[in-house]
Amino acid sequence: MERATIRLTLLSLLLICVISTPIKKPRDVDIYSFHINSTVNSRYAITVITSRVANRLSESKEIHFQVKIPKNAFISKFRMTIEGKTYDGVVKKKEEAQQQYSAAVSRGESAGIVGSVGRTLEEFKTSVTVAALSKVTFELTYEELLKRRLGKYKLQINAQPMQPVADFKIDVYINENPGISFLEVQGGLKTQELFNAVISTLADSTKEAWVNFYPTREQQTKCEGCGENGLNGDLLIEYDVKRPKQNGELRASNGYFVHYFAPTDIQQIPKNMVFIIDRSGSMHGRKINQTRTAMLKILEDLGQDDYFGLIIFDSEVDVWKAELLQATKQNLKQAKDFVKNIKDRGATDINAAVLKGVDMIKRYPREGSASILILLTDGDPTSGETNTERIQANVKAVIGGKFPLYCLGFGFDVNFDFLEKMALENDGVARRIYEDSDADLQLQGFYEEVATTLLTDVQLKYPGGANLTQTSFRQYYNGSEIVVAGQITDNSLETLQTEVIAISKNTNVTYQDSISTKDVIDILPQHENFIQRLWAYLTVKQLLEKEVALKGIEKEAAQKKALDLSLKYEFVTPLTSMVVTKPQEEETQVAHKPKEGEKPTTTYHGLKDDMHSYDYEMSYSVARMDPLKPVPRPTFITQTAVIQTVGNVRFLISAQPKQICYDTPAGHKLRLFSDNSDISINGQLSDNGFTLVAIHYKTAKLLVSPAESVYSDGENSVKFVWGQPSSHESENIAIFQRSNELDITMGSVRVVLLIHKNRGDDFLWPVVHQQGKDPNITGILGKADLQYEELPGSKLKIKDQEVEAPQSSAIDYRFSAAPRVNCWLVPFQSALQGELSDFTVSQL
Ligand SMILES: *[C@@H]1O[C@H](CO)[C@@H](O)[C@H](O)[C@H]1NC(C)=O
Ligand SMILES: *[C@@H]1O[C@H](CO)[C@@H](O)[C@H](O)[C@H]1NC(C)=O
Ligand SMILES: *[C@@H]1O[C@H](CO)[C@@H](O)[C@H](O)[C@H]1NC(C)=O
Ligand SMILES: *[C@@H]1O[C@H](CO)[C@@H](O)[C@H](O)[C@H]1NC(C)=O
Ligand SMILES: *[C@@H]1O[C@H](CO)[C@@H](O)[C@H](O)[C@H]1NC(C)=O
Ligand SMILES: *[C@@H]1O[C@H](CO)[C@@H](O)[C@H](O)[C@H]1NC(C)=O
Repeated sequence: MERATIRLTLLSLLLICVISTPIKKPRDVDIYSFHINSTVNSRYAITVITSRVANRLSESKEIHFQVKIPKNAFISKFRMTIEGKTYDGVVKKKEEAQQQYSAAVSRGESAGIVGSVGRTLEEFKTSVTVAALSKVTFELTYEELLKRRLGKYKLQINAQPMQPVADFKIDVYINENPGISFLEVQGGLKTQELFNAVISTLADSTKEAWVNFYPTREQQTKCEGCGENGLNGDLLIEYDVKRPKQNGELRASNGYFVHYFAPTDIQQIPKNMVFIIDRSGSMHGRKINQTRTAMLKILEDLGQDDYFGLIIFDSEVDVWKAELLQATKQNLKQAKDFVKNIKDRGATDINAAVLKGVDMIKRYPREGSASILILLTDGDPTSGETNTERIQANVKAVIGGKFPLYCLGFGFDVNFDFLEKMALENDGVARRIYEDSDADLQLQGFYEEVATTLLTDVQLKYPGGANLTQTSFRQYYNGSEIVVAGQITDNSLETLQTEVIAISKNTNVTYQDSISTKDVIDILPQHENFIQRLWAYLTVKQLLEKEVALKGIEKEAAQKKALDLSLKYEFVTPLTSMVVTKPQEEETQVAHKPKEGEKPTTTYHGLKDDMHSYDYEMSYSVARMDPLKPVPRPTFITQTAVIQTVGNVRFLISAQPKQICYDTPAGHKLRLFSDNSDISINGQLSDNGFTLVAIHYKTAKLLVSPAESVYSDGENSVKFVWGQPSSHESENIAIFQRSNELDITMGSVRVVLLIHKNRGDDFLWPVVHQQGKDPNITGILGKADLQYEELPGSKLKIKDQEVEAPQSSAIDYRFSAAPRVNCWLVPFQSALQGELSDFTVSQL
């Protein structure tokens, strides 16, 4: 009855809305700023998400903050700032936090922070009640050590602010001492529509790289997977580092060190691989089909020197051949026929199947080879031995630490804890295969990671080091990396040494190194303790893995150590929770790290539904100047126009694999960007860069100088001063003054003006972050991307024309760090396909 009434009321409200909604309705909950800032130092990534939200209602309102972070990461800080007051989250032991939380719930206070797990991301959400017409800032920090897989590191940044946000940006900075060998930006957010919103650059030293992502609000609704709720997707930054030394990379700072070991100068070790495949009834349909598809591909990838065996099991265990056979053409063909005929049936006898696999490997030992067992299953043991502890004990006893067992759990009906324990007890790892159309690719991907064994029995020693993370690894695979961190005894660098002993193909190898002064990190003070944090992160991760397979006192000791470190470094781990005491009513909320294997939950619904009903339109407070006061523009222009011309200014155009650069004579008024319709940008080029930039959009104009900027349209006149953050928004226009950048969106174009200093002179540098694929775009910044072909003898072919292109360098002023980068230097005419006179204007 009650429900019906409510529905009626809603309906009538809706009707009223339809009739009376003005075209522009401000959002009740307005995310007016959303920034993500990721800093990576030697693979250790610290990411800060800052969301600023305003309650535009004249009553208090619950405001949500919801983000997705990589599973591998630990949250290390969360804070809310409301009306100038800051509320910091505190990391507590899980049980304690739970009590506090239960007490809050029993007092009828709001529910806690719920987490859920996806394939690579987990969710963090919280909410706070914000008073009428007030604002809240949420700031979440998380940390992770990027893992090298298949020859690269992947920094995954998820962006889903739940609204299109005019002041949205992602800034990424990567610092890798031996140099970055390649850098690529991928992910759903870098699809066609958003392609030009991403810019990246690599310093000529290759030690530093920057990636910026500044999509316009319009773009945020148009990209793949995005919609009226704005961006929804990932930015994936993939890179690898150079490895000039086979003995690894050693870095030290503040009494801690980290050693990255990934030698490449070794031959592959032939392997003995046994695949144990579940064909129980539950594998029926797509799962067994995908398994067949993956196995056929994997068999093709086996090397001539490899030996392999195939076991399929339900309640019965069948083998393709009783022994391991060499991966010859003939054998592979037979094995493929066998795989094609695998049919699902029966129950699941994991115990018998794994014991059979171990037996097969042990019966045919081969000198100088590496053995690997891979178990693929989608269910619990239901036949034969079904007690998981006894299965674990049996398997551990027969393997005896001689080779690794990897467990792949297909779908969510597996007892993943059991598989994980069994894998970790036997030097392997467990991986979940998600039931999806790409399950076969997930299986192949996992195989590829372990396909090339380069070393076995790797032992790392560190005279002069203490409190080390794991130092012994059963196998080292091509494309991976071994990372060991520790403390330096007495903080004495002179005595710290590394020594690695391992078995490679038919020989024993050793690698030795000692620290040199250049390994001692010389970085920004705010990052100088990152090695210590990396050490803590790795220690906690490894203790949590080890603890799974331990029992009794040992388990408790490992847990205690992991807990103590989690508390000390404020990591939200499975043993700790973040407690946020909110302003009103002393309400508490708890952030847990969700557990892998829990099905993704969708218990939460408030936000999304709410969001649908918001019409977004910004009405952010503006520092207005007196509208009657005239803007001093004409005189300004004539004054700057008399600057004398000297020399050239070098510009960069993004291109693959190396950027293109060209020189433009200083002293001209240039057309920077124009799409022949609404927007045009012109600039006065002086010795170093621009000294005046004018942006025209319909009837509005923004005049930017290194001193200040003035925006004017028919109604408003707003002044911006560098170093004094402020903003202005009106229909189709958003201007954000940040400390050293002025970020302007007009219509469908977003342009960021950076302020730089060179020999005491301040100058401006415009960066166009977005443009359509409109052929009518002109101006020297209208070329976002240039295609070229490299020809022998320092020549390039650009648009069917051959040009001399010496290797040169330029300063990339598109980034505030202004790094020097390498480029092909081409004549102005070739880069811009036109003469200088095509780009000059008489009036700004
Ligand atoms: C990102 O964070 C780093 C480290 O805190 C800081 O130095 C840098 O200025 C930030 N970058 C931006 C664009 O906010
Ligand atoms: C290791 O991987 C790299 C790149 O993927 C490849 O070039 C190299 O040949 C591989 N090494 C061996 C021994 O297979
Ligand atoms: C998987 O199923 C598809 C159609 O359902 C079939 O065409 C394909 O041959 C099957 N693959 C294998 C390896 O059995
Ligand atoms: C190793 O850790 C212990 C316990 O935290 C500490 O007392 C000791 O000083 C550490 N060793 C070194 C060399 O820093
Ligand atoms: C490698 O070293 C082990 C002992 O450390 C020794 O038993 C083995 O014979 C050595 N192998 C080779 C090929 O030298
Ligand atoms: C380019 O300009 C011409 C002439 O002004 C116009 O007809 C055409 O539609 C424009 N193209 C695009 C893609 O806007």
